[in-house]
Amino acid sequence: MTSTSSRASRQRETWTSSTGFILAAIGSAVGLGNIWRFPGVAYENGGGAFLIPYLVALLTAGIPILFLDYAIGHRYRAAAPLALRRIARPAETLGWFQICLSFVIAVYYAAVIAWSLSYFVFSFDLRWGDNTAAFFTGEYLQVGAPEISSTVVPAVAIPLVLVWVAVLVVLVLGVTRGVQRVNVVFIPLLTVTFAALVVRALTLPGASDGLNAFFTPNWSALTDPAVWIAAYSQIFFSLSIAFGIMITYASYQRRKANMTSSGLVVAFANSSFEILAGIGVFATLGFMAQQASTTVDQLEGLTGPTLSFITFPAVISQMPGGNVFGMLFFGCLVLGGFTSIISILLGVAASVQEKFGLGQKAAAVTVSVICAALSLALFSTTSALLALDTVDQWANNIGIVFSAIVMAVLVIWVLRKGPTLLAHLNTVSTFRLGWWWIGLVAVLAPLYLGYMLYERVRTLIVEGYEDLPQWYLNTFGWGTIGLVVVVAILLTVIPWRGRDDPSFVPWPPLREEPASQQQPVLPEQEEVR
Ligand code: PHE
Repeated sequence: MTSTSSRASRQRETWTSSTGFILAAIGSAVGLGNIWRFPGVAYENGGGAFLIPYLVALLTAGIPILFLDYAIGHRYRAAAPLALRRIARPAETLGWFQICLSFVIAVYYAAVIAWSLSYFVFSFDLRWGDNTAAFFTGEYLQVGAPEISSTVVPAVAIPLVLVWVAVLVVLVLGVTRGVQRVNVVFIPLLTVTFAALVVRALTLPGASDGLNAFFTPNWSALTDPAVWIAAYSQIFFSLSIAFGIMITYASYQRRKANMTSSGLVVAFANSSFEILAGIGVFATLGFMAQQASTTVDQLEGLTGPTLSFITFPAVISQMPGGNVFGMLFFGCLVLGGFTSIISILLGVAASVQEKFGLGQKAAAVTVSVICAALSLALFSTTSALLALDTVDQWANNIGIVFSAIVMAVLVIWVLRKGPTLLAHLNTVSTFRLGWWWIGLVAVLAPLYLGYMLYERVRTLIVEGYEDLPQWYLNTFGWGTIGLVVVVAILLTVIPWRGRDDPSFVPWPPLREEPASQQQPVLPEQEEVR
Protein backbone atom coordinates (compact mmCIF):
# COMPACT_ATOMS: atom_id res chain seq x y z
CA MET A 1 0.00 0.00 0.00
CA THR A 2 1.40 3.37 -0.91
CA SER A 3 1.51 6.27 1.47
CA THR A 4 -1.31 7.99 -0.40
CA SER A 5 -3.63 5.04 -0.05
CA SER A 6 -2.87 4.52 3.60
CA ARG A 7 -3.53 8.21 4.14
CA ALA A 8 -6.82 7.91 2.27
CA SER A 9 -7.95 4.94 4.29
CA ARG A 10 -6.85 6.58 7.52
CA GLN A 11 -9.01 9.56 6.66
CA ARG A 12 -12.14 7.52 6.13
CA GLU A 13 -14.33 7.76 9.19
CA THR A 14 -15.44 4.54 10.85
CA TRP A 15 -18.07 3.40 13.29
CA THR A 16 -16.26 3.16 16.58
CA SER A 17 -17.53 -0.33 17.43
CA SER A 18 -19.69 -3.15 16.15
CA THR A 19 -22.45 -1.89 18.39
CA GLY A 20 -22.16 1.51 16.75
CA PHE A 21 -22.57 -0.07 13.32
CA ILE A 22 -25.38 -2.37 14.41
CA LEU A 23 -27.35 0.45 16.03
CA ALA A 24 -26.89 2.66 12.98
CA ALA A 25 -27.96 -0.14 10.65
CA ILE A 26 -30.99 -0.87 12.83
CA GLY A 27 -31.69 2.86 12.79
CA SER A 28 -31.74 2.81 9.01
CA ALA A 29 -33.89 -0.30 8.84
CA VAL A 30 -36.44 0.49 11.51
CA GLY A 31 -38.48 3.41 10.35
CA LEU A 32 -41.77 4.41 8.89
CA GLY A 33 -41.74 1.14 6.96
CA ASN A 34 -42.07 -0.85 10.16
CA ILE A 35 -44.57 1.21 12.04
CA TRP A 36 -46.50 2.86 9.26
CA ARG A 37 -46.33 0.45 6.34
CA PHE A 38 -46.07 -3.11 7.67
CA PRO A 39 -49.28 -3.52 9.73
CA GLY A 40 -51.51 -2.42 6.90
CA VAL A 41 -49.65 -4.38 4.25
CA ALA A 42 -49.83 -7.52 6.38
CA TYR A 43 -53.52 -7.09 7.08
CA GLU A 44 -54.39 -6.48 3.43
CA ASN A 45 -52.40 -9.48 2.30
CA GLY A 46 -53.80 -12.36 4.25
CA GLY A 47 -53.28 -11.31 7.88
CA GLY A 48 -51.54 -14.07 9.80
CA ALA A 49 -50.87 -15.97 6.58
CA PHE A 50 -48.79 -13.01 5.36
CA LEU A 51 -46.12 -13.97 7.85
CA ILE A 52 -45.25 -16.95 5.66
CA PRO A 53 -44.41 -15.02 2.45
CA TYR A 54 -42.85 -12.38 4.67
CA LEU A 55 -40.48 -14.85 6.32
CA VAL A 56 -39.74 -16.55 3.03
CA ALA A 57 -38.91 -13.16 1.52
CA LEU A 58 -36.71 -12.33 4.49
CA LEU A 59 -34.73 -15.56 4.28
CA THR A 60 -34.50 -15.95 0.51
CA ALA A 61 -33.97 -12.34 -0.54
CA GLY A 62 -33.79 -9.95 2.40
CA ILE A 63 -30.88 -11.40 4.32
CA PRO A 64 -28.91 -12.65 1.27
CA ILE A 65 -29.12 -9.25 -0.46
CA LEU A 66 -28.30 -7.49 2.80
CA PHE A 67 -25.12 -9.59 2.90
CA LEU A 68 -24.40 -8.67 -0.72
CA ASP A 69 -24.69 -4.96 0.14
CA TYR A 70 -22.43 -5.43 3.15
CA ALA A 71 -19.85 -7.38 1.17
CA ILE A 72 -19.63 -4.78 -1.59
CA GLY A 73 -19.43 -1.87 0.83
CA HIS A 74 -16.93 -3.43 3.18
CA ARG A 75 -14.63 -4.84 0.54
CA TYR A 76 -14.61 -1.82 -1.78
CA ARG A 77 -14.83 0.79 1.01
CA ALA A 78 -16.85 3.49 -0.69
CA ALA A 79 -20.39 4.69 -1.17
CA ALA A 80 -22.39 2.79 -3.80
CA PRO A 81 -21.22 4.50 -7.04
CA LEU A 82 -17.50 4.30 -6.28
CA ALA A 83 -17.71 0.88 -4.64
CA LEU A 84 -19.39 -0.53 -7.74
CA ARG A 85 -17.01 1.37 -10.02
CA ARG A 86 -14.12 -0.23 -8.21
CA ILE A 87 -15.54 -3.58 -9.28
CA ALA A 88 -16.04 -2.44 -12.88
CA ARG A 89 -16.31 1.05 -14.27
CA PRO A 90 -19.71 0.88 -15.96
CA ALA A 91 -21.25 -0.52 -12.76
CA GLU A 92 -21.06 2.99 -11.37
CA THR A 93 -24.37 3.76 -13.09
CA LEU A 94 -26.13 1.18 -10.94
CA GLY A 95 -24.70 2.87 -7.86
CA TRP A 96 -26.11 6.19 -8.97
CA PHE A 97 -29.44 4.63 -9.82
CA GLN A 98 -29.68 3.34 -6.26
CA ILE A 99 -28.56 6.62 -4.78
CA CYS A 100 -30.96 8.70 -6.90
CA LEU A 101 -33.82 6.42 -5.88
CA SER A 102 -32.87 6.90 -2.23
CA PHE A 103 -32.84 10.63 -2.85
CA VAL A 104 -36.38 10.46 -4.24
CA ILE A 105 -37.49 8.50 -1.19
CA ALA A 106 -35.88 11.03 1.15
CA VAL A 107 -37.86 13.83 -0.51
CA TYR A 108 -41.18 12.35 0.57
CA TYR A 109 -39.99 10.42 3.63
CA ALA A 110 -39.13 13.76 5.25
CA ALA A 111 -42.69 14.92 4.69
CA VAL A 112 -44.11 11.98 6.64
CA ILE A 113 -41.68 12.67 9.50
CA ALA A 114 -42.82 16.30 9.46
CA TRP A 115 -46.48 15.24 9.67
CA SER A 116 -45.61 12.94 12.56
CA LEU A 117 -43.90 15.81 14.30
CA SER A 118 -47.02 17.95 13.91
CA TYR A 119 -49.22 15.12 15.15
CA PHE A 120 -46.94 14.61 18.13
CA VAL A 121 -47.76 18.19 19.09
CA PHE A 122 -51.45 17.82 18.16
CA SER A 123 -51.60 14.89 20.63
CA PHE A 124 -51.21 17.32 23.54
CA ASP A 125 -54.75 18.62 23.12
CA LEU A 126 -56.12 16.13 20.59
CA ARG A 127 -56.31 18.96 18.14
CA TRP A 128 -57.66 16.79 15.31
CA GLY A 129 -61.15 16.87 16.81
CA ASP A 130 -63.91 14.45 15.88
CA ASN A 131 -63.57 14.29 12.15
CA THR A 132 -59.97 13.18 11.80
CA ALA A 133 -60.20 12.60 8.06
CA ALA A 134 -61.42 16.11 7.37
CA PHE A 135 -58.77 17.46 9.71
CA PHE A 136 -55.89 15.60 8.06
CA THR A 137 -56.65 16.16 4.40
CA GLY A 138 -58.56 19.40 4.81
CA GLU A 139 -57.42 21.55 7.67
CA TYR A 140 -53.88 20.20 7.98
CA LEU A 141 -52.69 19.21 4.49
CA GLN A 142 -55.23 21.24 2.54
CA VAL A 143 -55.24 18.61 -0.19
CA GLY A 144 -56.27 19.82 -3.61
CA ALA A 145 -56.99 18.21 -6.96
CA PRO A 146 -54.31 16.04 -8.62
CA GLU A 147 -52.36 18.95 -9.99
CA ILE A 148 -49.07 20.62 -9.36
CA SER A 149 -49.79 23.35 -6.88
CA SER A 150 -47.70 26.13 -5.45
CA THR A 151 -49.82 27.08 -2.45
CA VAL A 152 -47.58 26.57 0.57
CA VAL A 153 -49.16 25.14 3.73
CA PRO A 154 -47.23 26.66 6.66
CA ALA A 155 -48.39 24.02 9.14
CA VAL A 156 -46.49 21.46 7.06
CA ALA A 157 -43.66 23.67 5.90
CA ILE A 158 -42.51 24.58 9.41
CA PRO A 159 -42.00 21.06 10.79
CA LEU A 160 -40.51 20.06 7.44
CA VAL A 161 -37.90 22.79 7.73
CA LEU A 162 -37.15 21.60 11.28
CA VAL A 163 -36.62 18.04 10.06
CA TRP A 164 -34.22 19.20 7.35
CA VAL A 165 -32.25 21.41 9.70
CA ALA A 166 -31.81 18.46 12.07
CA VAL A 167 -30.73 16.19 9.19
CA LEU A 168 -28.22 18.78 8.04
CA VAL A 169 -26.70 19.18 11.49
CA VAL A 170 -26.25 15.43 11.94
CA LEU A 171 -24.70 15.00 8.51
CA VAL A 172 -22.30 17.87 9.00
CA LEU A 173 -21.14 16.27 12.24
CA GLY A 174 -20.25 13.17 10.24
CA VAL A 175 -20.43 9.41 10.65
CA THR A 176 -19.01 8.99 14.13
CA ARG A 177 -19.96 12.20 15.86
CA GLY A 178 -23.25 12.67 14.04
CA VAL A 179 -24.95 9.55 12.71
CA GLN A 180 -23.57 7.07 15.22
CA ARG A 181 -24.33 9.29 18.21
CA VAL A 182 -27.88 9.95 17.13
CA ASN A 183 -28.51 6.23 16.74
CA VAL A 184 -26.87 5.29 20.01
CA VAL A 185 -29.35 7.56 21.77
CA PHE A 186 -32.41 7.23 19.55
CA ILE A 187 -32.55 3.47 19.04
CA PRO A 188 -32.67 2.55 22.75
CA LEU A 189 -35.13 5.40 23.26
CA LEU A 190 -37.26 4.17 20.39
CA THR A 191 -37.19 0.62 21.77
CA VAL A 192 -38.41 1.71 25.19
CA THR A 193 -41.06 4.05 23.79
CA PHE A 194 -42.24 1.43 21.39
CA ALA A 195 -42.41 -1.26 24.07
CA ALA A 196 -44.49 1.06 26.25
CA LEU A 197 -46.80 1.70 23.33
CA VAL A 198 -47.31 -1.98 22.56
CA VAL A 199 -47.90 -2.86 26.21
CA ARG A 200 -50.47 -0.09 26.52
CA ALA A 201 -52.16 -1.25 23.31
CA LEU A 202 -52.34 -4.82 24.59
CA THR A 203 -54.08 -3.73 27.78
CA LEU A 204 -56.87 -1.88 25.95
CA PRO A 205 -60.31 -3.52 26.07
CA GLY A 206 -60.92 -5.39 22.83
CA ALA A 207 -57.20 -5.83 22.11
CA SER A 208 -57.56 -9.58 21.69
CA ASP A 209 -60.17 -9.13 18.95
CA GLY A 210 -57.68 -7.02 17.06
CA LEU A 211 -54.99 -9.64 17.47
CA ASN A 212 -57.38 -12.32 16.26
CA ALA A 213 -58.12 -10.27 13.18
CA PHE A 214 -54.43 -9.78 12.53
CA PHE A 215 -53.33 -13.35 13.13
CA THR A 216 -56.29 -15.25 11.71
CA PRO A 217 -54.75 -16.47 8.50
CA ASN A 218 -56.48 -16.24 5.20
CA TRP A 219 -54.68 -19.16 3.59
CA SER A 220 -56.07 -18.55 0.15
CA ALA A 221 -53.96 -15.36 0.05
CA LEU A 222 -50.90 -17.58 -0.35
CA THR A 223 -51.89 -18.48 -3.89
CA ASP A 224 -52.15 -14.85 -4.92
CA PRO A 225 -48.94 -13.55 -6.55
CA ALA A 226 -49.76 -9.98 -5.42
CA VAL A 227 -49.36 -11.12 -1.81
CA TRP A 228 -45.86 -12.41 -2.51
CA ILE A 229 -44.98 -9.22 -4.34
CA ALA A 230 -46.11 -7.22 -1.34
CA ALA A 231 -43.97 -9.36 0.97
CA TYR A 232 -40.81 -8.90 -1.08
CA SER A 233 -41.34 -5.16 -1.53
CA GLN A 234 -41.93 -4.79 2.18
CA ILE A 235 -38.69 -6.60 3.02
CA PHE A 236 -36.62 -4.51 0.62
CA PHE A 237 -37.94 -1.21 1.83
CA SER A 238 -37.84 -2.25 5.43
CA LEU A 239 -34.27 -3.55 5.48
CA SER A 240 -33.09 -0.58 3.36
CA ILE A 241 -31.46 -2.98 0.89
CA ALA A 242 -30.58 -2.43 -2.77
CA PHE A 243 -30.76 1.34 -2.18
CA GLY A 244 -26.99 1.77 -1.96
CA ILE A 245 -27.49 2.78 1.65
CA MET A 246 -26.22 -0.42 3.25
CA ILE A 247 -23.24 -0.42 0.88
CA THR A 248 -22.35 3.01 2.25
CA TYR A 249 -22.92 2.02 5.88
CA ALA A 250 -20.77 -1.09 5.51
CA SER A 251 -18.01 0.98 3.93
CA TYR A 252 -17.52 2.75 7.26
CA GLN A 253 -16.93 -0.54 9.04
CA ARG A 254 -13.47 -1.26 10.30
CA ARG A 255 -11.36 -3.89 8.61
CA LYS A 256 -12.00 -6.52 11.22
CA ALA A 257 -15.76 -6.43 11.44
CA ASN A 258 -18.10 -9.32 11.87
CA MET A 259 -20.34 -8.53 8.92
CA THR A 260 -22.74 -11.45 8.62
CA SER A 261 -23.44 -11.76 12.34
CA SER A 262 -24.19 -8.03 12.49
CA GLY A 263 -26.47 -8.50 9.51
CA LEU A 264 -28.42 -11.23 11.29
CA VAL A 265 -28.83 -9.03 14.36
CA VAL A 266 -30.06 -6.15 12.22
CA ALA A 267 -32.48 -8.30 10.24
CA PHE A 268 -33.84 -9.93 13.39
CA ALA A 269 -34.26 -6.61 15.18
CA ASN A 270 -35.99 -5.10 12.18
CA SER A 271 -38.48 -7.93 11.80
CA SER A 272 -39.16 -7.97 15.54
CA PHE A 273 -40.03 -4.30 15.40
CA GLU A 274 -42.23 -4.95 12.43
CA ILE A 275 -44.18 -7.81 13.94
CA LEU A 276 -44.50 -5.98 17.25
CA ALA A 277 -45.82 -2.96 15.36
CA GLY A 278 -48.42 -5.22 13.77
CA ILE A 279 -49.42 -6.47 17.22
CA GLY A 280 -49.58 -2.97 18.70
CA VAL A 281 -51.54 -1.49 15.83
CA PHE A 282 -54.07 -4.30 15.67
CA ALA A 283 -54.59 -4.43 19.42
CA THR A 284 -55.47 -0.75 19.14
CA LEU A 285 -57.81 -1.38 16.24
CA GLY A 286 -59.50 -4.12 18.29
CA PHE A 287 -60.23 -1.47 20.87
CA MET A 288 -61.55 0.84 18.19
CA ALA A 289 -63.86 -1.83 16.79
CA GLN A 290 -65.18 -2.58 20.25
CA GLN A 291 -65.95 1.08 20.88
CA ALA A 292 -67.85 1.24 17.62
CA SER A 293 -69.58 -2.12 18.34
CA THR A 294 -68.27 -3.60 15.15
CA THR A 295 -65.49 -5.98 14.08
CA VAL A 296 -62.00 -5.12 12.91
CA ASP A 297 -62.63 -6.33 9.37
CA GLN A 298 -65.48 -3.85 9.09
CA LEU A 299 -63.13 -0.96 9.86
CA GLU A 300 -61.78 1.04 6.99
CA GLY A 301 -58.61 2.98 6.38
CA LEU A 302 -56.11 0.51 7.78
CA THR A 303 -53.15 1.29 5.53
CA GLY A 304 -50.47 3.88 4.93
CA PRO A 305 -51.08 7.53 5.76
CA THR A 306 -54.75 6.87 6.48
CA LEU A 307 -53.94 4.41 9.24
CA SER A 308 -51.49 6.68 11.04
CA PHE A 309 -53.02 10.07 10.45
CA ILE A 310 -56.76 9.44 10.26
CA THR A 311 -57.67 6.13 11.89
CA PHE A 312 -55.19 6.33 14.77
CA PRO A 313 -56.03 9.86 15.85
CA ALA A 314 -59.68 8.80 15.97
CA VAL A 315 -58.85 5.89 18.28
CA ILE A 316 -56.56 8.03 20.39
CA SER A 317 -59.39 10.48 21.03
CA GLN A 318 -61.52 7.65 22.38
CA MET A 319 -59.08 6.08 24.78
CA PRO A 320 -58.35 7.08 28.33
CA GLY A 321 -54.92 8.73 28.42
CA GLY A 322 -55.06 9.21 24.68
CA ASN A 323 -52.69 12.16 24.77
CA VAL A 324 -49.85 10.05 26.10
CA PHE A 325 -50.61 7.25 23.67
CA GLY A 326 -50.59 9.74 20.82
CA MET A 327 -47.29 11.19 21.91
CA LEU A 328 -45.75 7.73 22.17
CA PHE A 329 -47.05 6.68 18.76
CA PHE A 330 -46.08 9.80 16.84
CA GLY A 331 -42.87 10.05 18.85
CA CYS A 332 -41.93 6.56 17.61
CA LEU A 333 -42.64 7.59 14.03
CA VAL A 334 -40.41 10.64 14.43
CA LEU A 335 -37.53 8.74 16.07
CA GLY A 336 -37.66 5.79 13.69
CA GLY A 337 -38.14 8.00 10.66
CA PHE A 338 -35.33 10.33 11.57
CA THR A 339 -32.72 7.60 12.00
CA SER A 340 -33.75 6.25 8.59
CA ILE A 341 -33.66 9.52 6.72
CA ILE A 342 -30.17 10.33 7.95
CA SER A 343 -29.01 7.00 6.55
CA ILE A 344 -30.44 7.90 3.16
CA LEU A 345 -28.89 11.34 3.14
CA LEU A 346 -25.55 9.98 4.33
CA GLY A 347 -25.56 7.59 1.38
CA VAL A 348 -26.27 10.41 -1.05
CA ALA A 349 -23.81 12.84 0.54
CA ALA A 350 -20.97 10.29 0.65
CA SER A 351 -21.49 9.49 -3.03
CA VAL A 352 -21.43 13.15 -4.03
CA GLN A 353 -18.42 13.78 -1.82
CA GLU A 354 -16.42 11.03 -3.47
CA LYS A 355 -17.40 11.87 -7.02
CA PHE A 356 -16.89 15.60 -6.85
CA GLY A 357 -13.97 15.64 -4.46
CA LEU A 358 -15.87 17.77 -1.97
CA GLY A 359 -15.15 17.96 1.71
CA GLN A 360 -17.44 15.96 3.96
CA LYS A 361 -19.19 19.04 5.32
CA ALA A 362 -19.57 20.71 1.93
CA ALA A 363 -21.14 17.54 0.52
CA ALA A 364 -23.46 17.25 3.51
CA VAL A 365 -24.67 20.82 3.15
CA THR A 366 -25.08 20.68 -0.65
CA VAL A 367 -27.06 17.47 -0.63
CA SER A 368 -29.28 18.38 2.33
CA VAL A 369 -30.10 21.79 0.92
CA ILE A 370 -31.05 20.45 -2.52
CA CYS A 371 -33.12 17.64 -1.07
CA ALA A 372 -34.78 19.97 1.44
CA ALA A 373 -35.66 22.48 -1.26
CA LEU A 374 -37.30 19.80 -3.38
CA SER A 375 -39.04 18.32 -0.41
CA LEU A 376 -40.44 21.71 0.56
CA ALA A 377 -41.43 22.58 -2.97
CA LEU A 378 -43.27 19.31 -3.52
CA PHE A 379 -44.63 18.41 -0.13
CA SER A 380 -45.48 21.58 1.68
CA THR A 381 -48.00 22.43 -0.99
CA THR A 382 -51.58 21.37 -1.37
CA SER A 383 -50.73 18.62 -3.87
CA ALA A 384 -48.64 16.68 -1.34
CA LEU A 385 -50.60 13.58 -0.45
CA LEU A 386 -51.32 12.27 -3.92
CA ALA A 387 -47.84 12.92 -5.20
CA LEU A 388 -46.37 11.13 -2.21
CA ASP A 389 -48.47 8.05 -2.70
CA THR A 390 -47.73 7.85 -6.41
CA VAL A 391 -43.98 8.35 -6.08
CA ASP A 392 -43.86 5.77 -3.26
CA GLN A 393 -45.70 3.23 -5.39
CA TRP A 394 -43.25 3.52 -8.29
CA ALA A 395 -40.04 3.92 -6.34
CA ASN A 396 -40.74 0.93 -4.13
CA ASN A 397 -42.50 -1.51 -6.34
CA ILE A 398 -40.55 -0.90 -9.49
CA GLY A 399 -37.36 1.05 -8.88
CA ILE A 400 -35.99 -0.94 -6.02
CA VAL A 401 -36.90 -4.36 -7.35
CA PHE A 402 -35.22 -3.47 -10.63
CA SER A 403 -32.15 -2.31 -8.73
CA ALA A 404 -31.90 -5.58 -6.79
CA ILE A 405 -32.18 -7.70 -9.93
CA VAL A 406 -29.56 -5.69 -11.81
CA MET A 407 -27.19 -5.74 -8.85
CA ALA A 408 -27.42 -9.51 -8.40
CA VAL A 409 -27.03 -10.28 -12.10
CA LEU A 410 -24.29 -7.74 -12.68
CA VAL A 411 -22.12 -8.48 -9.67
CA ILE A 412 -22.44 -12.25 -9.69
CA TRP A 413 -23.05 -13.25 -13.32
CA VAL A 414 -21.40 -10.53 -15.34
CA LEU A 415 -18.55 -9.45 -13.10
CA ARG A 416 -18.22 -12.85 -11.43
CA LYS A 417 -17.53 -11.50 -7.99
CA GLY A 418 -19.62 -14.12 -6.16
CA PRO A 419 -16.71 -16.28 -4.89
CA THR A 420 -14.62 -13.23 -3.96
CA LEU A 421 -17.41 -11.61 -1.98
CA LEU A 422 -18.30 -14.91 -0.35
CA ALA A 423 -14.70 -15.44 0.73
CA HIS A 424 -14.52 -11.87 1.94
CA LEU A 425 -17.57 -12.18 4.15
CA ASN A 426 -16.46 -15.53 5.50
CA THR A 427 -13.02 -14.29 6.34
CA VAL A 428 -14.23 -11.42 8.45
CA SER A 429 -17.38 -12.97 9.93
CA THR A 430 -18.20 -15.69 12.41
CA PHE A 431 -21.48 -16.70 10.78
CA ARG A 432 -20.23 -18.46 7.67
CA LEU A 433 -21.99 -18.51 4.36
CA GLY A 434 -21.82 -21.30 1.82
CA TRP A 435 -22.39 -21.50 -1.89
CA TRP A 436 -26.11 -21.49 -1.14
CA TRP A 437 -25.73 -17.76 -0.59
CA ILE A 438 -24.54 -17.22 -4.16
CA GLY A 439 -27.35 -19.49 -5.33
CA LEU A 440 -29.97 -17.43 -3.53
CA VAL A 441 -28.60 -14.11 -4.70
CA ALA A 442 -27.74 -15.04 -8.25
CA VAL A 443 -30.35 -17.59 -9.26
CA LEU A 444 -33.42 -17.56 -7.10
CA ALA A 445 -33.68 -13.82 -6.40
CA PRO A 446 -33.46 -12.64 -10.02
CA LEU A 447 -36.02 -15.26 -11.05
CA TYR A 448 -38.78 -14.37 -8.64
CA LEU A 449 -37.94 -10.68 -8.49
CA GLY A 450 -38.03 -10.60 -12.31
CA TYR A 451 -41.45 -12.20 -12.26
CA MET A 452 -42.66 -9.74 -9.63
CA LEU A 453 -41.43 -6.79 -11.59
CA TYR A 454 -43.09 -8.02 -14.76
CA GLU A 455 -46.42 -8.50 -12.94
CA ARG A 456 -46.27 -5.11 -11.32
CA VAL A 457 -45.37 -3.19 -14.47
CA ARG A 458 -48.10 -5.03 -16.38
CA THR A 459 -50.72 -4.20 -13.76
CA LEU A 460 -49.74 -0.55 -13.61
CA ILE A 461 -49.84 -0.25 -17.40
CA VAL A 462 -53.12 -2.10 -17.83
CA GLU A 463 -55.01 -0.86 -14.81
CA GLY A 464 -53.34 2.44 -13.99
CA TYR A 465 -53.21 3.45 -10.38
CA GLU A 466 -55.96 4.62 -8.04
CA ASP A 467 -57.97 6.09 -10.95
CA LEU A 468 -55.47 8.91 -11.29
CA PRO A 469 -55.24 10.61 -14.69
CA GLN A 470 -52.65 9.17 -17.04
CA TRP A 471 -50.64 12.41 -17.31
CA TYR A 472 -50.31 12.38 -13.55
CA LEU A 473 -48.97 8.81 -13.48
CA ASN A 474 -46.65 9.64 -16.34
CA THR A 475 -45.25 12.58 -14.42
CA PHE A 476 -44.96 11.30 -10.86
CA GLY A 477 -44.76 7.56 -11.46
CA TRP A 478 -43.02 6.67 -14.73
CA GLY A 479 -41.52 10.15 -14.85
CA THR A 480 -39.73 9.61 -11.55
CA ILE A 481 -38.20 6.34 -12.69
CA GLY A 482 -37.23 7.82 -16.07
CA LEU A 483 -35.63 10.79 -14.40
CA VAL A 484 -33.68 8.57 -12.02
CA VAL A 485 -32.29 6.57 -14.95
CA VAL A 486 -31.30 9.69 -16.88
CA VAL A 487 -29.67 11.35 -13.88
CA ALA A 488 -27.81 8.14 -13.01
CA ILE A 489 -26.37 8.01 -16.53
CA LEU A 490 -25.46 11.70 -16.47
CA LEU A 491 -23.71 11.36 -13.13
CA THR A 492 -21.71 8.44 -14.45
CA VAL A 493 -20.63 10.34 -17.54
CA ILE A 494 -19.47 13.41 -15.61
CA PRO A 495 -15.73 13.00 -15.08
CA TRP A 496 -14.51 12.17 -11.58
CA ARG A 497 -13.25 15.18 -9.73
CA GLY A 498 -12.69 13.31 -6.54
CA ARG A 499 -9.31 11.65 -6.35
CA ASP A 500 -10.11 7.99 -6.15
CA ASP A 501 -6.99 6.46 -4.83
CA PRO A 502 -5.41 4.81 -7.90
CA SER A 503 -3.67 2.24 -5.75
CA PHE A 504 -6.81 1.23 -3.89
CA VAL A 505 -6.67 -2.45 -3.01
CA PRO A 506 -9.73 -4.31 -1.76
CA TRP A 507 -9.22 -5.68 1.68
CA PRO A 508 -7.68 -9.12 1.36
CA PRO A 509 -8.55 -11.86 3.85
CA LEU A 510 -7.13 -11.19 7.27
CA ARG A 511 -4.13 -13.43 7.69
CA GLU A 512 -4.61 -13.97 11.36
CA GLU A 513 -7.96 -15.67 10.75
CA PRO A 514 -7.16 -19.40 10.85
CA ALA A 515 -10.46 -20.32 9.24
CA SER A 516 -9.41 -18.63 6.04
CA GLN A 517 -7.73 -21.87 5.02
CA GLN A 518 -11.13 -23.31 4.29
CA GLN A 519 -11.92 -20.48 1.96
CA PRO A 520 -11.15 -20.20 -1.71
CA VAL A 521 -7.92 -18.33 -2.18
CA LEU A 522 -8.46 -14.76 -3.24
CA PRO A 523 -6.45 -13.16 -5.98
CA GLU A 524 -3.68 -11.10 -4.43
CA GLN A 525 -4.79 -7.93 -6.04
CA GLU A 526 -7.93 -7.42 -8.01
CA GLU A 527 -7.99 -5.12 -10.91
CA VAL A 528 -9.56 -1.92 -9.74
CA ARG A 529 -10.88 1.04 -11.71
N1 PHE B 1 -35.96 1.09 6.00
C1 PHE B 1 -36.63 2.32 6.23
C2 PHE B 1 -38.00 2.05 6.82
O1 PHE B 1 -38.38 0.96 7.07
C3 PHE B 1 -36.77 3.15 4.99
C4 PHE B 1 -35.56 3.28 4.16
C5 PHE B 1 -35.62 2.96 2.83
C6 PHE B 1 -34.35 3.69 4.69
C7 PHE B 1 -34.50 3.05 2.04
C8 PHE B 1 -33.22 3.76 3.91
C9 PHE B 1 -33.30 3.44 2.58
O2 PHE B 1 -38.75 2.94 7.05
